[in-house]
Amino acid sequence: MKTIVVSNRKGGSAKTTTAVNLACELAKRGSVLLIDLDTQAHASMGVGCMGSLDNGVHSIFFGKTLSETFVPTVFEQLTLSPATEFFDVYENGDLRGVLRSRFFNEMIHEFFDYVVIDTPPTFDSLLKNALEVADAVVIPFVPHHLGVVAVGQMVRAIYQNASYNGQRTPNVGILPVMVNTHIPEHRDAIAKVKIQFGEEKFFSPIGIDVKLSNQFEGGNPIIDHPERSRGIKDYHRFVEELLNRI
Ligand SMILES: Nc1ncnc2c1ncn2[C@@H]1O[C@H](COP(=O)(O)OP(=O)(O)O)[C@@H](O)[C@H]1O
Ligand SMILES: [Mg+2]
Repeated sequence: MKTIVVSNRKGGSAKTTTAVNLACELAKRGSVLLIDLDTQAHASMGVGCMGSLDNGVHSIFFGKTLSETFVPTVFEQLTLSPATEFFDVYENGDLRGVLRSRFFNEMIHEFFDYVVIDTPPTFDSLLKNALEVADAVVIPFVPHHLGVVAVGQMVRAIYQNASYNGQRTPNVGILPVMVNTHIPEHRDAIAKVKIQFGEEKFFSPIGIDVKLSNQFEGGNPIIDHPERSRGIKDYHRFVEELLNRI
């Protein structure tokens, strides 16, 4: 089993879009668990479900098992652990290690080939729980100045967290999103991040495609119709590249 965390503390950087398309694409190849750690529940909606009021993934912090939170999705091989809307991480103290212990105790690796985790745009216990189980972290970023800064902050957070826990650093990959290569600022921002972190960490970019936004409206991922969407083709290529690295 490989666990892939999609993360960036910057909001609006296509974390959820990436997590949903990655999970759907992987579900063609094996059994997948999508965990929606962002209480906004957008990833849950992206696969045709709703956030839960009291039985989502965040209920593991109140003693539930992870398996109790599972719900089926529109895809046979894709199981969702939805977000618990209104869960307040700040009211619940330090929650580190809980997801990792659930993975271990419930032998999650026996049931899934891949786990994909969508994360909130904060560096809090939820993100730390995700990083603690990560084999790989994908950082999607929009190529502009603050996007470049955010990648640096996120990479530091990943390394800090691994060293705090005495863990192996996960495989870090950087995914430029909403890219228009005709825009010089986009090309410059990508070049800057490549110089900082190395070309080998990069995935081929995801272009701008409004269909990627529309798929959330109907809760109906369009992964089965790549011919209809450039964005889906880009995500398909990204998943191939990712699988070659993990
Ligand atoms: N490649 C893309 N082309 C066009 N719009 C996109 C693309 N990727 C994401 N979006 C849109 O950008 C917004 C932010 O994406 P989202 O995945 O919700 O980011 P995050 O989870 O990081 O906040 C959403 O409205 C989404 O539909
Ligand atoms: Mg999101």
